[in-house]
Amino acid sequence: MTNILRIAISSRLNDKDDFKKITLTSENKKAYIYLKNDNFVFQNNDEEAVIEEVDIINKIEELIQKGFKSIICEFYSGDMRIEIPSGKNAKPKITYSKPLIMPEETDSGTIIDPDEANELLKAIEIISSDGSTKADMMRKFIQIDNFIKIILPLLNKSSQDKKIFILDCGSGKSYLSFVMNYFLREKLRRNCHFFCIDTNVELIEKCRGIQKQLNYNNMEFHVSAIKDFQPKERVDIVCSLHACDTATDEAIAKGVLLESPFLLVVPCCQHEVTNQLTDHPLKAITRHGVYKSKLADLLTDAMRTLILEAVGYKVSVTEYVSPIYTPKNILIQAEKIQAKNSMAFKQYLELKNMFSGVSIELERILHNFFDFSNLES
Ligand SMILES: C[S@@+](CC[C@H](N)C(=O)[O-])C[C@H]1O[C@@H](n2cnc3c(N)ncnc32)[C@H](O)[C@@H]1O
Repeated sequence: MTNILRIAISSRLNDKDDFKKITLTSENKKAYIYLKNDNFVFQNNDEEAVIEEVDIINKIEELIQKGFKSIICEFYSGDMRIEIPSGKNAKPKITYSKPLIMPEETDSGTIIDPDEANELLKAIEIISSDGSTKADMMRKFIQIDNFIKIILPLLNKSSQDKKIFILDCGSGKSYLSFVMNYFLREKLRRNCHFFCIDTNVELIEKCRGIQKQLNYNNMEFHVSAIKDFQPKERVDIVCSLHACDTATDEAIAKGVLLESPFLLVVPCCQHEVTNQLTDHPLKAITRHGVYKSKLADLLTDAMRTLILEAVGYKVSVTEYVSPIYTPKNILIQAEKIQAKNSMAFKQYLELKNMFSGVSIELERILHNFFDFSNLES
C-alpha cells in the first residue's frame, strides 16, 4: 500500500467518534471493518474478529494484496473513496465527499421520519415493540422534533468538519440526546459527542444499555448533579429539557461557567420563588394560588433571562412547541455575544428589589462569578 493511502486512512482514524464503517470490495466479495461495542470488528464471509486500531491499515493492505480494489471509508463527517488501479506503479485514486444533507420535513411536518428512525425510536421506547405509539410518547416525539429544528441553525454556524459537543442536563431517559444524535450523525453526518447527565442511577444505566444496543459510541452517560459535572471537552451547546425546579438553574449556570456559546433550556416545575412572594406590589394578583404560581414561574424565568443577558448572552424566549404537546413549552435560548451587559444587571436588581430581594438558585451559583456586590449600591 502506498504511503499516500496509509496517510489518508490513518489521519481519519484518529477520531473514533467519527468512524462509521470501511467497506472493501473485490470482484465478488465484500469485507467490512466497523465499530461494535467500542471495538473495531473485521468481517467477511469467512471471518469475524476484533482488531486493534493499529492493525486496521495492515488489514486493508492484506486485502488489497488479495485483490480488493475498492475501499469506501465512511466517517460521520464525510466519506473517502479509494480505487486501487491495476498497474504496479499506478497511484490509488482518492476522492472525498462531504454530505450536506438537509432532510425535508415529512408529510406530517416532522423533520425526523419515524419510519427511517424506527430502530432508534423502538430502542428508546417512543415506538413500542408492536409498532404502536402511545399519545404521551407521540407528544414527546413532537417536542424533541421541534427542539431539533431549533438547534439546526446553530449547527450551521460552525463548519461541517467541526466536532460538536453537546451537554444534556437532567437528561432522564435521554430521549432528546438519542434522537439528536441520530439526526446529527445519521442524517446530517455531523461529527458530534454527547454528555448526558442525570442524578438518577437507574435511568443512566438504562441509557447505557440502549447506547450499547445502538452502538452510539459518541455518547457518554454520567450519574452526577449538573452543577458537579466537568466535561473533558469544551462544550458548544448546553441544553436541558424539563430539568426539574432548580436543576434548570444548574443547567444555565453550567453553560455560563463552561462559557458555552449556546444554551437552550426548557424549564419545568418551579417551586423556590413561590414561597418568597410575600411582600411586593402585586398582592392583588398573588392572593389567588393559581395566579401566584403562574407569577412565580414568570418571575423565575424573567430573572433567569436577565442573568443570562447580564453575563453577555443574547436571549430569545419562545414557545418551542404548541401547549397541546406540553404546558411547559417555554424555551429560553441564549447565545454568547459579549462579556457582560450592565443594563441587564440593573434591571435584574430592580426586579429583585420589587419583590423584596427574591432570589433564585442561578443567582446563588453565579454569585461570585457575577459580582453582584458592585452593582447592589
Ligand atoms: C422531568 S425529567 C426530564 C428528563 C428529560 N430531560 C426529558 O425531557 O425526558 C427531569 C430529570 O432531571 C433529573 N434531575 C433533577 N435534578 C437534577 C440535578 N440537580 N442534576 C442532574 N439531574 C437532575 C431527574 O433525575 C430527572 O431525570
